[in-house]
This record gives sequence, structure tokens and C-alpha cells, in this order.
Amino acid sequence: MNASNAHADRHAELKRTLNFHNHRYYVLDDPVITDPEYDALMRELRTIEEQRPNLITPDSPSQRVGAEPLSAFESVQHPRPMLSLANAFSKEDMLAWRTRVSGLLEEARYDMVCELKFDGLAVALTYEDGLLVRGATRGDGLRGEDVTQNLRTIHSIPLTVPSDSPSRFEVRGEVYMTLSGFRELNRQREEAGEPLYVNPRNTAAGTVRQLDPRIAAKRPLDIFIYGLGYAEGPVPDTHWEMLEYFKSLGFRISPHSELVHDVEEVESYFKRWEDQLASLDYAADGVVVKVNEIPLQEQLGFVGREPRWAIAYKFPAEQATTKLLNIDINVGRTGSLNPFAVLEPVVVGGATVKQASLHNEDDIHRRDIRVGDTVIVQRAGEVIPQVLGPVASLRTGKERIYYIPDECPRCGSKVVRPEGEAMHRCPNPNCPARYYEALKHFVSRGAMDIEGVGESLCETLLRERLVKDPADLYYLKEEENKRKLLNLDRMAEKSVANILASIEASRTQPLPRVLIALGIPHVGGETADILTQNYDNIEALKNAKEEDLVEINDIGPIIAKSVAEFFKNETNLDIIKKLKKAEVDPQSGQTTTSGPGPWVGMNFVVTGKLDNYSRDQAHALIKELGGSAVSSVSKKTNYLLAGADAGSKLAKAQTLNIPIIDETAFTALVEEARSATPALPGENGP
Ligand code: IVH
Repeated sequence: MNASNAHADRHAELKRTLNFHNHRYYVLDDPVITDPEYDALMRELRTIEEQRPNLITPDSPSQRVGAEPLSAFESVQHPRPMLSLANAFSKEDMLAWRTRVSGLLEEARYDMVCELKFDGLAVALTYEDGLLVRGATRGDGLRGEDVTQNLRTIHSIPLTVPSDSPSRFEVRGEVYMTLSGFRELNRQREEAGEPLYVNPRNTAAGTVRQLDPRIAAKRPLDIFIYGLGYAEGPVPDTHWEMLEYFKSLGFRISPHSELVHDVEEVESYFKRWEDQLASLDYAADGVVVKVNEIPLQEQLGFVGREPRWAIAYKFPAEQATTKLLNIDINVGRTGSLNPFAVLEPVVVGGATVKQASLHNEDDIHRRDIRVGDTVIVQRAGEVIPQVLGPVASLRTGKERIYYIPDECPRCGSKVVRPEGEAMHRCPNPNCPARYYEALKHFVSRGAMDIEGVGESLCETLLRERLVKDPADLYYLKEEENKRKLLNLDRMAEKSVANILASIEASRTQPLPRVLIALGIPHVGGETADILTQNYDNIEALKNAKEEDLVEINDIGPIIAKSVAEFFKNETNLDIIKKLKKAEVDPQSGQTTTSGPGPWVGMNFVVTGKLDNYSRDQAHALIKELGGSAVSSVSKKTNYLLAGADAGSKLAKAQTLNIPIIDETAFTALVEEARSATPALPGENGP
């Protein structure tokens, strides 16, 4: 044998070996060699190909990364149209579908297959004589684009299939981006100061439809194969066996498909997966139900572009598109200007959403959100709605880039943005927005907990000048004020008496509660407890120096500075003086069990490996916002924060139907709670 033949033989063997290990790793998730061993084989293949470029064939594993960019995609005709699916939204819809199908089949017996409806983009893969020859997008269903170069970079797409496969066939499947990969991609973009991607689906579609395969190769794309386009050669005659057959040819199929017999079973599959969605590393927007017997599928045929033999049973959408009508500002208690989106009302996650939070100006620009845009809004579970980003393709040119106003929308003061901070602030300590937020915070459940004094009464008291700052509440009992109270709309003798009684009752709240109620920036329940352990009353704390405070365990420089500055402020000192005069001046070391603010009464369980927080940090955050971090999941758990490799707690939360959030959702909740404390967007005052 001469040297060149030996090269060719070794090259062929390496191709086979590498394709085999590629399949073990990417399709079966069950590698039999280590990564370095795989890399060594790949290096050997590449060396041979460098010396003998004529050996490079499209089925070489080296071709998965980085072919040259194309100038345009070719348009290709689908031998059989790629259909879409009719939708069902309820069990009734499913029963109606089943009845219709049964009628058309004249009571023939048939089974169904339930599959997840993967939220990505549909592609068709054509194989000829054992080789992948073409990968195409769905396009308009009749013609798509030839994106073979990009699809080749997806490792779970086999470049070759066994020699006894049909001589020519086409399979169809859904390309998607993993959720973890998507988050990592956006993290890198954020770090590089690049605009963020909106969601995994659009990003996957954008990746497959851009011209540089080297970019596609770097993106976390994957695929599930779910159907046959056509085959020249014998294939199974039920969908269920077809899926197994795909697997035997080396394709990646979903492990979560199930053969079912009636709508009850469909319903239970649907419910189960609706609850377990958070355990998947990809998005699914429903369940696809298919008639199992392929001859019956053919008998049923299709109407328009939709087959009669399959239907998409959709989960309630957690994302929707709507118009961003305007961006408005809510001025917080500390003067922070919190922007929020005013939306054309849209139903998402089972509720009508009219407003959504926008974090700050930088974030709005990072997401390239403009007033007038069509935007994608997300609402999952109880999470406050978020604007993820624009649908840039729907722009008309009339959209407007948003900037936080130069002047406070409530008092007209010149807005500042302290160095290193993301939030703009109104620096005016007398801004009416601050008084409203401060009062609302003072009476709230986690602070002085004054029953009967709600948001609208706060508004009225300020408007009628019965109260300017929270301390004035304790002087409402004076005769003249009482008379004015009685004159207010819808105020009777009895309600005034009740309100005054609960204000009086709050005078005995322990020190930490009062510290929380004062609204010292950065002082939540945990910090209030620590301060209380070190200082017996407000007077003592007032006299503490920043240097003393920073000496305390668990009090960092930011808190120390914030506390010291709070007690230098004349307005604050005036409030404290008035409180003392009204005998709101607790002398005690008593501590609260749960803190202030937004998460009072909420129980969190943290499980699994987190990327951005240690377990302790996550617990501390929860407590800081007033929530409780508990160790076991029960009916009383409000949220399970699940990281990677979450185990039994995740399973238990799923069975109990407890909302499961990942780190991103948790961070969003925290930011939300912090920036908007205690107001939600739109709960702005008078
Ligand atoms: S079957 C005619 N199965 O949903 C049958 N489609 O709205 C059509 N999809 O274009 C495809 N997961 O992109 C099927 N398990 C699944 C699917 C699925 C997602 C997508 C596919 C299709 C769209 C139809």
C-alpha cells in the first residue's frame, strides 16, 4: 500500500470514528471517550486534510465549523409543502378535534402521539445515498432557503446515515437555541456593550438565516427531529415507530413523546408539561398531538396549509407582542426615576398587561427599545411583566429613542445621575413624589403596618395638607385635624375612629420596624435588626459616626454611609423629632422576624447550583427584601429558585404546582423589588 492510500484509509477511518463519537456525545448524550481524546482524533483528521485537501468531503466532521460566508442563500422548492398546525386552547377544543377526526375516519381505531411543541424554527434535511445533501428553512411552506452550511454546524445533525437507509429521504425538525446558551450569549453581549437579543427563538432563527457559518458554529443551537417529509424506500407506518426509526438512523428525537389513546391522556400530558416547562433547557409553547397511524394521516389529508391529522394544543402564551405607546416615569421614595412602559393592552400569561417595567435608561438602550416600537412582552407566573425588546423588522422609522427627562416629572428639579449608578434621580428632598412614596412606605405592612391607611388615603392626606411627612400621622388626632378628616369624602365618624386607632396602635412598633419605616436607603429588615442589636434607640443611632457603623459585623461601607447621611439631613431630623414628641420612640433590642417591603410573607426555597450567587447570597437577598428563605418545599412556598442540577426539591415543587424560577427571573424579581420599592409601575401618586 502506498503512502497516499494509507492517508486516505486513515482519513476514512477517522471520519467514521469521529462521526460515531459525535453521535454518542451530541445525540445520545452518552460519550464513550473523553474530550481530549476526541480533540486528538480531530487534530489528526485536520492534519491529514491540510496535507491532502482533496480528501475533504462534506461529511467530514471538520466541515461542521466555519465554511466561508455566503453572499446569499439559494431558494429551494420543498418536494412536499411544509405545513403549519391548527391551534387548540382547551380540553374542549381537543375533544372537538378528536370527534371530528373520528367522524372522518368512520370510527376506525386510532392512537395518538403527544409531543412537545418546540419553539424554534422548522427545517427540512435531505439525505441522498447516506449523505446530508441539503438543509432548508420552511420559508412560506412551499419554498425555503438553502441553509445547509449553517445547519451542518449543529452537531446533532448527522452528516451521514447508515447505508441501509432509504436512498433518498427528507426529515423535518425544529432547530432551537438552549435557554442556558441564550443567557450566556446575552451575558457576553452585555459585557461587550452590544444590544441584547430578545428571546431564544428569534435568535435561533436569526442565526440560521445569517450568511456566516462560523457565527452559526459558535451559537448553542440544537435540533429535535419530529417528522418525515418523504422517503424513497420502506419506512414504518406509525408515527410512534417512525420516531424510533429516526433514532436508529442517528437523529436526535425528544425523549418526552408519548403514545396515548384518548383525550384524557392528552390532557394529563399537557398539564404535566405545562408544570414542568421550567425543567427544560429549551422553550416549548405547547403540545403537538398527532394521529399515530400514517395511512390514516394520509386518509385525513389537509385543509389549506393545515393537516387534519395533527393539532397544536398551546400553553397560555407567556410572551406576546404589542405596541409600546409611551415610556413614563414613577418617582420613587429615594427620588429614583423608574421608567415603565405604557403598552397597548395585551393578554399574556393569562392576564391583561398594560404596563411593564423598564429598568433604567441604559437597559432601555441596551435592548434598543424605542417609543412606538412593536415590542415583545413577557409575563411568567406572578413575575412583573417585562419588555424584552423590539421587533425591529416592524419599524416604520417613526420610532423615537427614549431618554430620561432632564427635569423631574413631579417637581421640575434638574435630574441627576450619580456617578457609577444606573438610576437617574430627582435630587429634591421636597419632591412631592418622595412624600407620597415615603408615606406609603411608612404605613406599609413590613414597616409600621397601619391598617386602614392605604394608598388612596395617603394621596388624600397629602393633597388636603393634613399630612406632609409620615410623623404628621400621629397629630391627626388633634381636634382641628379630626374635623378636617371628617369632612373628607366618604369619611364617617366610625372610619375616622378606626384610622386614628390603628395609627395609635402603631406607636408601639419595635425599633427595627421604625427604622425600616423611616426609609433609610439600603436599610432593610436584616440591617434594621443588626442596627437594633447595636443601638438601643433612634437617638443612639443618630449619634453614631460612620466609622462606628462600619465597624459592625455585616454592615458594609455603603450602608454605614447611608445611615450616617440620613441622620445629617434636616428634614429627617425634623421627622424624628416629631415622632419622638408623639412618643414614637421605641427603646428596645427586639428584632423583627421578617423584614420590610415587597417580599413580606413570601417564602422562597433555593436549590441547585447558581451561577451568579452563592446560596448564602441568595438567602441574604431574599431576607433583605423581607422574604423568608426556607429549606424545604411545601404548599406555603411561593417560589422555588432552581439552579443547575436541581433534584428532589424541584420535583416536589413541580408536583405541588409551585412557580419555579431560574436565576434570570430571580434577578429580575430582585431588581424589580429594589428599584420600584414599594411602588409597582403606575402606582404613582397624585
Ligand atoms: S409537526 C404538519 N411536531 O410547529 C405537521 N411541529 O405550527 C407540522 N413544531 O412549523 C409539524 N414542535 O415548526 C410538529 N413536535 C412537533 C413540533 C412542531 C414544533 C413547529 C413546526 C411547525 C409549527 C406548526
